Amino acid sequence: MSNYVKIFDTTLRDGEQSPGATMTSAEKLEVARSLARMGVDIIEAGFPAASPDDLEAVRRIAAEVGNPASGQDEARVPVITGLARANKSDIDKAWEAIQGAQKPRIHTFLATSPIHMKHKLKMDPEEVVQRVSEMVAYARTLCADVEFSPEDAGRSEPEFLYVVLGEAIKSGATTLNIPDTVGYTTPDEFYKLIDGIIKHTPGMHEGITVSVHCHDDLGLATANTLAGISAGARQAEVTINGIGERAGNTSLEEVVMTLKTRHPIFGLETGIETKQIARVSKLVSNYTGMVVQPNKAIVGANAFAHEAGIHQDGMLKHQTTYEIMRPEDVGVNQTKLVLGKHSGRHALRNRLAEMGHSLDEAELDLAFARFKELADRKKVIADADLEAIIADEFYRPRDVFYLEGLQVSCGTLGMPTATVRLRGPDRVIHNFASMGTGPVDATYKAIDAIVGTPCKLLEFNIHAITEGIDALGEVTVRIQSENGLHTMDAQSEGVFSRVFGGHGADTDIIVASAKAYINALNKLIIAKTEGAQPVANNFGVMLG
Ligand code: KIV
Ligand code: ZN
Repeated sequence: MSNYVKIFDTTLRDGEQSPGATMTSAEKLEVARSLARMGVDIIEAGFPAASPDDLEAVRRIAAEVGNPASGQDEARVPVITGLARANKSDIDKAWEAIQGAQKPRIHTFLATSPIHMKHKLKMDPEEVVQRVSEMVAYARTLCADVEFSPEDAGRSEPEFLYVVLGEAIKSGATTLNIPDTVGYTTPDEFYKLIDGIIKHTPGMHEGITVSVHCHDDLGLATANTLAGISAGARQAEVTINGIGERAGNTSLEEVVMTLKTRHPIFGLETGIETKQIARVSKLVSNYTGMVVQPNKAIVGANAFAHEAGIHQDGMLKHQTTYEIMRPEDVGVNQTKLVLGKHSGRHALRNRLAEMGHSLDEAELDLAFARFKELADRKKVIADADLEAIIADEFYRPRDVFYLEGLQVSCGTLGMPTATVRLRGPDRVIHNFASMGTGPVDATYKAIDAIVGTPCKLLEFNIHAITEGIDALGEVTVRIQSENGLHTMDAQSEGVFSRVFGGHGADTDIIVASAKAYINALNKLIIAKTEGAQPVANNFGVMLG
């Protein structure tokens, strides 16, 4: 059996499905590029049947990330896949979206647990077997690489799974992915499930990859994934920061770093360049507005912090006393780039290129202007500051509204008041002044008055990106549309009110707060005008 574990990243599909993780097409493309640079083997770029917008985002990723850039080693080009329910319409849409990739894969699924078959699908087990066999065979007429997932496998009868998976192999599936959809199993059970599937599925052979896909409802996703790998699975489906439905999916960084740190136990390799983990984690957190909890394994702010005196003392004597991984192995230690007012474009361009951002001349002009502005206010500029500038300047959605100016008065002596100037669509300038309970409230009220799109602020987070009094402040927000803007996920036929994340960075925290809010509002407005298309469910009924 191979000692290589393929890393299948579903941040852009299962991850993006989690409330508030909505990303724009430009953001999705940038995440896909970063995943490819990091060495992910397979990128699940989305669920093309969800909307024409989703299909287009997957198509762009297939074309731009799924083909070798000039000079790129072809072996490093990731497989691009799109999810499809087991019906022809979904499969056609997935194929339409991914066929421009050099290595396309169709990923189709159908539930196999008694609960799902009876209550959700309203299908008999025999009908499920028949549908799987027909739809996998149909997908194979379009694409040579087909993955099949029996949804809710964790609560399915193992003997029934052997039958369904055997039919999938007969019909041409090349990867069999075993999802613990509701995060119900324990590591011991999951090991036995995967072991049984490998041993008892008719037609199982070396050319079939068995994959694991776990959810974290009981906090066992990583443990279950590793148990599945120990039993012989050679593909792990994961997301950056573990984002995903409900409590999330297995996190990429936890699986990859466990296999690396405990190599003597597992004896397995991945193709992930681990030094890029921290950077990609930050990128996804910024774009989704989903803040990583400080004590999150590997990528949390405290993952390598040593507070207790006894620990600090040990660390000073030898790093290995309390550290099982080196922070630099996951890219946590910041390279300080000492650039100041007198530094040139060339140095900035080189550093950004080393960090993986290749900007054209116009983009470099913009980044350089922001960099100079920051260098006037801050002596030492770290990579994290540059990441914040790049995220803020380039990967925000097309501006519908843009912050032109902000003046705030606050303190103990008067009413907090904000005057906001926004450039709106058609370059029209709007000014509005508002009072509020504090400077952020006043600012958001003024922005609301100009933008006129009702929404609820669900979450507001602020923190300093680097240490020191002159640090950049970074704000992430999550807002929910109030006027019935809905989304649809792959596993249900239901629609949900959409949540949008926003990100802003500035040395002035009220300006950062305004930018984050406008960033989220811009996403909401774009989704309202472009994305809210009707979508078809499993059985061809149109959902609004
Ligand atoms: O959790 C799940 O069952 C899934 C499948 C669609 C693979 O995400
Ligand atoms: Zn899932």
